[in-house]
Amino acid sequence: MKRIYLVLALLVVGFGIKAKADEGMWLPHLIQGQTYDEMVRLGVKLTPEQIYDVNNSSLKDAIVRLGGGFCTGEIISSQGLMLTNHHCGFNAIQSLSTEGEKNYLERGFWAKEKKDELAAGFSVSFLQRIEDVTSEITEGLTESMTLKERSGKIQERMSAIQKEYADEKAHISAQVKVFFEGNNYYVFIYQTFPDVRLVGTPPQSVGKFGGETDNWMWPRHTGDFSMFRVYADEDNNPAEYSDENVPYTPKHHLPVSMKGVQEGDFAMIFGYPGSTDRYLTSCGVNFATETEFPARVKVRREKLDIYEKYMTMNEANKLKYASKYAGVSNYWKNFMGQTRGLKRLNIADRKKSEEEAFNTWANATPERKALYGNVISLYEEGFNTLHKNKMSQVYIVEEAVIGIEALLYAYRFGSLNAEMTDDELAAAADGLKSKVDGHYKDYIKDLDQEVCAAMLRYYHNDIPKDQQPADFLKLVAKYKGDFDKMAAAIYKKSIFVDKDKTLAFLNKVNVKKMKKDPMYKLMAMFINHYRQVVVPSIMESNESLEKAKRLYVKGLKEMNADKAYSSDANSTMRMTYGSIKDYFPADAVHYEYFTTMNGVLEKYVPGDIEFDLPERFVELAKSRTYGNYADKDGELHVCFLSNNDITGGNSGSPVINAEGHLIGTAFDGNWEAMSGDIAFEPELQRTISVDIRYTLWVIDVYAGAGHLVEEMTLIK
Ligand code: ARG
Repeated sequence: MKRIYLVLALLVVGFGIKAKADEGMWLPHLIQGQTYDEMVRLGVKLTPEQIYDVNNSSLKDAIVRLGGGFCTGEIISSQGLMLTNHHCGFNAIQSLSTEGEKNYLERGFWAKEKKDELAAGFSVSFLQRIEDVTSEITEGLTESMTLKERSGKIQERMSAIQKEYADEKAHISAQVKVFFEGNNYYVFIYQTFPDVRLVGTPPQSVGKFGGETDNWMWPRHTGDFSMFRVYADEDNNPAEYSDENVPYTPKHHLPVSMKGVQEGDFAMIFGYPGSTDRYLTSCGVNFATETEFPARVKVRREKLDIYEKYMTMNEANKLKYASKYAGVSNYWKNFMGQTRGLKRLNIADRKKSEEEAFNTWANATPERKALYGNVISLYEEGFNTLHKNKMSQVYIVEEAVIGIEALLYAYRFGSLNAEMTDDELAAAADGLKSKVDGHYKDYIKDLDQEVCAAMLRYYHNDIPKDQQPADFLKLVAKYKGDFDKMAAAIYKKSIFVDKDKTLAFLNKVNVKKMKKDPMYKLMAMFINHYRQVVVPSIMESNESLEKAKRLYVKGLKEMNADKAYSSDANSTMRMTYGSIKDYFPADAVHYEYFTTMNGVLEKYVPGDIEFDLPERFVELAKSRTYGNYADKDGELHVCFLSNNDITGGNSGSPVINAEGHLIGTAFDGNWEAMSGDIAFEPELQRTISVDIRYTLWVIDVYAGAGHLVEEMTLIK
């Protein structure tokens, strides 16, 4: 599952806990004390040190974070070959594509030799180690401190630790992350490799087979994989892209199992889950299902309709917006699924009884009462005020206003200001100039203008008027509420919607003039309003929420002292273990745990935008040319299910068997348990993965890139 992108900083709400079997995104360095015995019971053959070790190479050394954590990848050869999902490589593939011959999105791409591999435009990071810094961070903090005092101290200490561990020259960085809602802190030390190259990808008809119809659903038949290679300098150290660079020699690469999977087999997944909200309380759940998610679905749908209108006009437009479209549509469907799942499974009611149980426990002794007695009411209080302002935040920085591309582009120009010296200004302008081509390559002005009108209209209609910026209300009045007219006027004049105008401006920067640009002004009114009004009001609710959440988790751990707890996902490396498993999605309906090539052919619809396939692919499939990759049942297995606990950010994560061998690549969750980020459903929640043998079949038999398979360590 790919991580949802949030463009501006936002406040994270909610938290998580180990509650039931199979639930849990575990910190890899704590496996021994928390989960190892259970993993052994389920069949794991590795020692804890083979899984995570700081001094010797271990499994964790084969796992990479893509960019800042939008996805996960795994190293599968001694020459730095990296496997991830097609939808994780999608943006890179789209950026490298041009119409016709080099439309790699449509046609696929396979580098014949290393010199043909193409700069991917994202970096990967290896986790070196994790250290507990809780006592350094929390020393001397008291319950009587205000949130501002408290978080000020915490921020200061976090930055100091990060600085202490970082070594820029060696591409080493450190991140201190908050766990259990502020009860624990760990520092993560990474080494980042900036030179990553595209090695190969199937055409999107295979990599995205089933499109939006099948997205987030089982049974699935998607070849959702793409391959990259990590490059290093001649000493095997990270280096910026250079022709001199050579394939990176990893500390560990995952052997690839050709043995396939059976129901009940042990399966674990390592990766970078982005965020979960497992202990969101009932009022938070109700707000999500009644207010927030329906609005996000509506706004996204409108954006998608406008994108579709332009994308169907020609190949150039389709290519330009393919990646943007995928980004919006993925969570358009997810938010629908979440809403449906949360309601059907009565999650709010369930949360409510958990809160009541906590309250009873918390008020049973005077000591508990003193610390935890008002946690639940504090929680409700915080949420009630948060929810009053939350939709402003959602509309401005997560969905509507931020969805106007030219507005976001103008925001980048905020780095230019009148107080700069000429030299500083020239340097900043050069920086912006170098990105002009990239921005306009995938931009359609008319489309963006329509999006602008639609987004501003939604914002104006849906957000209470007294929460809108005063100067925006004036603008609306000036155009008598005609948003099409408003957008047309802005797009006619602005320098942020036209490449020549942008370049002309950057060649002769005039900050005063820029500040009068209608798009810049629109951006500034929303950003200022967000910073000066929305954020402070949200911070106010956080005064009670921060404390409520921290104490709730602390109390729950005390209340269930014999339970192992895992913290909510926060884009740090986690391990989830479980088994290969089928499920029953509804009364009288059983879903098998794997799909086969027969199902791909059943779904195949020539010419369809979601279910078409390349001719050669169909021939090979029909003639059952499965090479060495068929299962012992004679079929080519395509995808499989396991009951691992993953979320967005885990996309591309390796699924690993009891021996530590790669059996698949995780890429999605299932419709019946879309509520999983808020509540784990052991009976229903499944991870959907591509069977590694299908991946190898596509590479070797379909694409004829068998030399890549030869690079791998195959376990037969
Ligand atoms: N649902 C998948 C995830 O979040 C993304 C699949 C991309 N495919 C698609 N048809 N949009 O990781």
